Amino acid sequence: MPDLKVRPTYRSRRRRQAVHLYVGRVFRPGWSPTMSKPSVLITRKLPAAVMASLDDVADVARPAGDTHADLVAAVAGKQALVSMVTDQVDRAVIEAGDALRVIANVGVGYNNIDVGFARERGIVVTNTPDVLSRATADLAWALILGITRRLGEGERLVRRGAWPGWAFDQLLGMELNGKTLGIVGFGRIGREVAARAPAFGMTVVHTGRTADSLPLDRLLSTADVVSLHVPLSPATTHLIDQAALARMKRGAYLINTSRGPVVDEAALVWALKSRLIAGAALDVYEREPVVHPDLLAFENVLLAPHLGSATTETRTAMADLAVRNVLAVLSGEPPLTPVI
Ligand code: 8YV
Repeated sequence: MPDLKVRPTYRSRRRRQAVHLYVGRVFRPGWSPTMSKPSVLITRKLPAAVMASLDDVADVARPAGDTHADLVAAVAGKQALVSMVTDQVDRAVIEAGDALRVIANVGVGYNNIDVGFARERGIVVTNTPDVLSRATADLAWALILGITRRLGEGERLVRRGAWPGWAFDQLLGMELNGKTLGIVGFGRIGREVAARAPAFGMTVVHTGRTADSLPLDRLLSTADVVSLHVPLSPATTHLIDQAALARMKRGAYLINTSRGPVVDEAALVWALKSRLIAGAALDVYEREPVVHPDLLAFENVLLAPHLGSATTETRTAMADLAVRNVLAVLSGEPPLTPVI
């Protein structure tokens, strides 16, 4: 597998020179150093190397706090907004953003943005596809391995001083070799997850529109591990409901690194209590950061705090891509990764 491609930092002289050349383009035609820089609102601190590139060309501001009201108050007069998936960029924000030309979401998912309304106002919306696919696929595999080999349970046992020592039949998990991995949503991340399956001896089935795809019902009744990789939309909200969970194999595991509302958490609690599935590993939740309280009580549930893209390399690449989208739009060029 090729190495993760991360854009170099801006610290090197050559890179800074390249940035300055680019900066020149942002203000063309007719730019002069006395002209004011465009104002860019960033809702969270970005990596220092990326910040340096932005500070060179724009007046960068942060909202006074992390609330929606803070965002509404701060967006007026800004030409660009760099948002995170936790920011609700709804009508109120877009209406307050009277000078907005681009909203650059740092994330591949953009369900936090009212894209239709932004489009109506002529505002470009961009996301950060590709650069996070590998990190998110790795995390999905961390969850698959963690839940099937009962790592959470084991760690809790050790930490509470309750481990009696090695035993032949202790915390026996499910072997992945020879099992079937069902990928729901065969896009960039789903395909990266699939690419890692041969290393664990797993056969892959997936949903989708290609000839070799399975309908969701068939996938659910076939797979030993079901991993979710669909974007959140009205069509995928509660895609995994009681009926879907009831269709899964009794010994199967559910993995979710997509968006929380794709799974009906109350239905998942019901399925776990009814022992309809063997366990679940979740990185995302219906009402983050709130987790359904009943999920916390299950030993056979592994819970991660939305870590899909959380590596230094990937978060830097995401921020860098978002900023390059901002610079492209402000310089009158097409965005690199507009949302469809
Ligand atoms: C990030 C994500 O944690 O890209 C997404 O859609 O959910 C994650 O990669 C998030 O986007 C950071 O804003």
